[in-house]
Amino acid sequence: MTFNIIVGAQWGDEGKGRVVDLLASEADYVARYSGGDNAGHTVTVGEQTFKLHLIPSGVIHPHTIGVLGNGMVINPAVLLAEMEQIRGAGVNINPQRMRISYAAHVITPGHIALDKAREMARGAGKIGTTQRGIGPAYNDKAARSGIRMESVLSPETFADEIMAHIEKINQQLTSLYGAPPLDAQSVAQEYVGYARILAPYVGDITTLLSTALKNGKYVLAEGAQGTLLDLDHGTYPFVTSSTPTAPGALVGLGLGVGRTNRVVGVTKAFQTRVGEGPFPTEVFGEAATRLRGTGTNPWDEFGTTTGRPRRVGWLDAVLLRYAVQINGLTELTLTKLDILTGLNTLRICTGYKTDGKTLENLPLGPKDLTPFEPVYEELPGWEKDVWEVRKWADLPAQAQAYIQRIETLVDVPVSLVSVGPERDQIIRR
Ligand code: IMP
Repeated sequence: MTFNIIVGAQWGDEGKGRVVDLLASEADYVARYSGGDNAGHTVTVGEQTFKLHLIPSGVIHPHTIGVLGNGMVINPAVLLAEMEQIRGAGVNINPQRMRISYAAHVITPGHIALDKAREMARGAGKIGTTQRGIGPAYNDKAARSGIRMESVLSPETFADEIMAHIEKINQQLTSLYGAPPLDAQSVAQEYVGYARILAPYVGDITTLLSTALKNGKYVLAEGAQGTLLDLDHGTYPFVTSSTPTAPGALVGLGLGVGRTNRVVGVTKAFQTRVGEGPFPTEVFGEAATRLRGTGTNPWDEFGTTTGRPRRVGWLDAVLLRYAVQINGLTELTLTKLDILTGLNTLRICTGYKTDGKTLENLPLGPKDLTPFEPVYEELPGWEKDVWEVRKWADLPAQAQAYIQRIETLVDVPVSLVSVGPERDQIIRR
């Protein structure tokens, strides 16, 4: 029995897809447990590169079974388009190879319209959501008025359920936000079409995965977003509406406590964030362009789902220590080390200064980080290109020292280091 969890240790976009790809080569099941198509994982199949938003990226390995857990919110139109896209690249997707939890929630155009209307109404206080309907779908789930994937199994009542749902949302759109109503009948018709195709994929994934673990199989839980976007433990209210942290894998797949082996946190060698919210180590101007890139390379820091330029900054070890604690990380993967090549001096935030005191940990979690001034430690950079490096011993001494300093600051080992975008540009320690 092996149950490993891969989780983002920052604000998402840490390069989890790379680690999933590596670990999924040995896994039997790869399972998404939270979020929806707000996530974006870049996956390469042969010569083709895809951006997957819902399907676990580990399904690219033909021996795996992909699972979409009950903790997810699923836009069926996006899911079907994604299935078609990767089928086109020769990836076999059928009801034996992909299972969807009956208890996952359905995202509708009503949720998307509400997400947009609410963001607009927030004005300067906007969250910067991906506008994929994620928040409103989780709202409905918590309010016990959501539509679950099990509804696609009853097409005769599904149309009525969708119609009633859209009509209810139309009341909010028109009376609260002055937004135009949606055509409930045509949405219902569209969704009944999706239901017919998706019904064979829907079932009980909890029993499936529990039985698999009992039979000695390997389940890999594939996190989306990141620790600092967690609804409870992130930089509230600038968070997503789900639980992307490692404990979310247990709830979002219906697996009991006490089964987890490795919890792998993925962090960039620096820090990025999309959307609004606090970011103590953020840099601007030329320094930002140096870390972000200009958008000419596929690995430059522009959102996979929205194309927005990401905010960038120095690695924040205070927040990384927090991520180790919240997730119970057993190890870290450090991505994008190559981006730091050529910088004279590197900075790591080791503490926060406030009222003349320096804190190593957050007094009240990461809700409001604005009163804190980062305390930086400076380390020498390196000149030598690391793209071709595959062994720890071949890394420049300054790069080794940078990584070892991170390990000491957060008290977990860095087991993998990525030095470029290709599959094999990885150093295992
Ligand atoms: P929502 O999840 O669309 O509601 O967006 C809430 C916040 O989470 C916004 O700041 C988004 O930019 C951020 N967010 C959501 N999903 C991701 C992701 O996969 N990567 C990075 N940021 C994300």
